[in-house]
Amino acid sequence: MTVPTPLIAGNWKMNGLSAALGEARAVAAGAPAKGPRVAICPPATLIHRMGEALAGSPVKLGGQDCHPEPSGAHTGDIAAEMLADAGASLVIVGHSERRADHGETDDLVARKVMAALRAGLEPIVCVGETLEQRQAGEALSIVTGQVRGSLPTALGGKAFSVAYEPIWAIGTGLTPTTAEIEEMHRAIRATLRELFGAAADTAPILYGGSVKAANAGEILRAAEVGGALVGGASLKAEDFLGIVRAI
Ligand code: 13P
Repeated sequence: MTVPTPLIAGNWKMNGLSAALGEARAVAAGAPAKGPRVAICPPATLIHRMGEALAGSPVKLGGQDCHPEPSGAHTGDIAAEMLADAGASLVIVGHSERRADHGETDDLVARKVMAALRAGLEPIVCVGETLEQRQAGEALSIVTGQVRGSLPTALGGKAFSVAYEPIWAIGTGLTPTTAEIEEMHRAIRATLRELFGAAADTAPILYGGSVKAANAGEILRAAEVGGALVGGASLKAEDFLGIVRAI
């Protein structure tokens, strides 16, 4: 059985001015040379300078979103090629905040995945249900449907990860039970096998939603959990490194 290399990625969201680069430097200094892959996805304004701050460390750099097109008249948007040019090697696509704030559909997310591949970036594709959907017993069908709709067949044989982030667990301090996380991650793994065959067994399935050092050990030990996508607790180096060390 192939076991994916774990990935712990910090999503800074719309947080971080130049002064926050010190936190990235502290993560770079404290990240273990062996162990999980570690990444930080800062706001686009900091990518270039964070690349300099992380240089020589094992910590990777990611974007938080990309436009499907490589260039053109799309004011305010950022192409995957621009992220790569600024030093990123990963990109988050389909985060629930973008699906909600910007009306992103599975189809658009799949096009963004294609853009990431075109630019040589490794996509982290986010999926997750609302509280209402979970309470209605629809969580598994919603999330596996998002996986089918957001992951194009071109991902076969490529490096990528899926991040399961229940929307009701993001920034709330609430987390699903370990059994609920395992049930969902197994369902996502089964869907990836259907779509891509055993080749996709190397793709880690990350959990995201109120991960912190105190709960990371239990979450990261759960079946089919191949890492974490961390929001609030990635903004301070000590908090983030506590999660990295929990694996
Ligand atoms: P929190 O860790 O702040 O709950 O955010 C999770 C998230 O949305 C990461 O992408």
